[in-house]
Amino acid sequence: MNVSIIGTGYVGLVTGVGLAQKGHKVFCVDKDIKKVKSINSGVPPIFERGLEPLLDKLVKENQLTATTDTVEAVKSTDVTFICVGTPSLSDGGIDKSFLVSASKDVSQGLTDKESYHVVCVKSTVVPGTTEDVVLPILEGVGLELGKDFGLGMNPEFLREGVALDDFMMPDRIVIGGSDEKTKEILTKVYENFDSTIMVAEIKTAEMIKYASNSLLATKISFSNEISRMCEKIGIDVYEVMDGVGLDHRINRDFLNAGVGFGGSCFPKDLKALIHFSQTIGVNPRILEAVIKVNEYQPIHAVNILEDMIGRLPGKKIAILGLAFKGETDDVRESRAIPMVKELLRRGAKVVGYDPKAGNNFLREIVNIEIAESVEKALSGSDGCIVQTDWEEFRTLTEEDFLAMRTPIVVDGRRVLNPDEFSRVRYRTIGR
Ligand code: UDX
Repeated sequence: MNVSIIGTGYVGLVTGVGLAQKGHKVFCVDKDIKKVKSINSGVPPIFERGLEPLLDKLVKENQLTATTDTVEAVKSTDVTFICVGTPSLSDGGIDKSFLVSASKDVSQGLTDKESYHVVCVKSTVVPGTTEDVVLPILEGVGLELGKDFGLGMNPEFLREGVALDDFMMPDRIVIGGSDEKTKEILTKVYENFDSTIMVAEIKTAEMIKYASNSLLATKISFSNEISRMCEKIGIDVYEVMDGVGLDHRINRDFLNAGVGFGGSCFPKDLKALIHFSQTIGVNPRILEAVIKVNEYQPIHAVNILEDMIGRLPGKKIAILGLAFKGETDDVRESRAIPMVKELLRRGAKVVGYDPKAGNNFLREIVNIEIAESVEKALSGSDGCIVQTDWEEFRTLTEEDFLAMRTPIVVDGRRVLNPDEFSRVRYRTIGR
């Protein structure tokens, strides 16, 4: 099939490359000419493991082309996926302005198109958005739903760092459609994928995305709450969750207690669902608690550190890991942000180290020194918190921490091996 993708951010580009690799002819559209040129030269404007060689191959094979012209792309394709961002507004709701402008551009491409075309939203949008925002724009230019076009919603479940694998080998593919024909066409797009395809109504597909992310975030906050009880009674939350996770109805994934969840999805999607829930008159008690627990966890790590060190004013604290998770330079909603703010508020001096995210972090908080290596961050520090589960930190030994003025460590992600420590004072969350 011929497919156009509107928006070549993280989701759009991975979707475009994935669908082209599965044999579709893909046109990626972006307003930014620099991104378009970069894609056409085989270089992804974003970093995602495995993306570059595949994009390069697909561009050379003419299987994927980028353009700034939405109208042309839509005209020459059968299906359009809208993959634009829906960032948070200050009230927690989603900003639909990119969705609106993309829909307007798509509608222009459809006005003098003879054949049936499916417009499918991949952006994360609260239930009702596809039908309340995109549909009226397409109908507004005189197009008839079911006759000229079909409307779909196909959420993404991509994790940063393994997004391409998640796209090519998904646990499930969720397809929402306005009518049978649309559902059939979207199912055909994914016919070469070895995965369960679930077909649903549009609003259901929209809700599946939010419910999935909220439940995963709930698992994390749940473990974090249990972890604080474990600390009080002298048992280990990881061992507890190993036992809990053996129940196939629960499973062990996303039950790792620590300094909490960050990233571009969980916090934003939870806030959006809370906001949405309130607008329809439902009190989102669990979701609010999930956020509250998550906000507390980085403060809890600081409390543990203070408990071990004593008062913080004037103390130099090293934060290992500034990214929201390991193997990425992304600092969006990283737990290092509230953690560093709290340390500064309590009068500590902070030195941070991250294999990739140092510069990005400086855009969030300027009042921090960024070290070039773990060694430099630890040297002369009075205490240390491990905030990110970078592989690099797993190999740290007692010797590394003995370079500190006082070797006091709070492991916020369970990456260190305390059995090997005899002189380092070590504590972790949930044990
Ligand atoms: C997430 C979802 O997994 C993905 O399906 C969705 O499309 C986008 O959001 P991502 O943000 O890339 O993906 O990160 P993920 O690997 O899920 O981790 C999210 C956060 O939760 C990280 O800060 C991580 O450190 C934290 N986490 C994860 C925990 O604290 N404990 C866990 O057990 C698992």
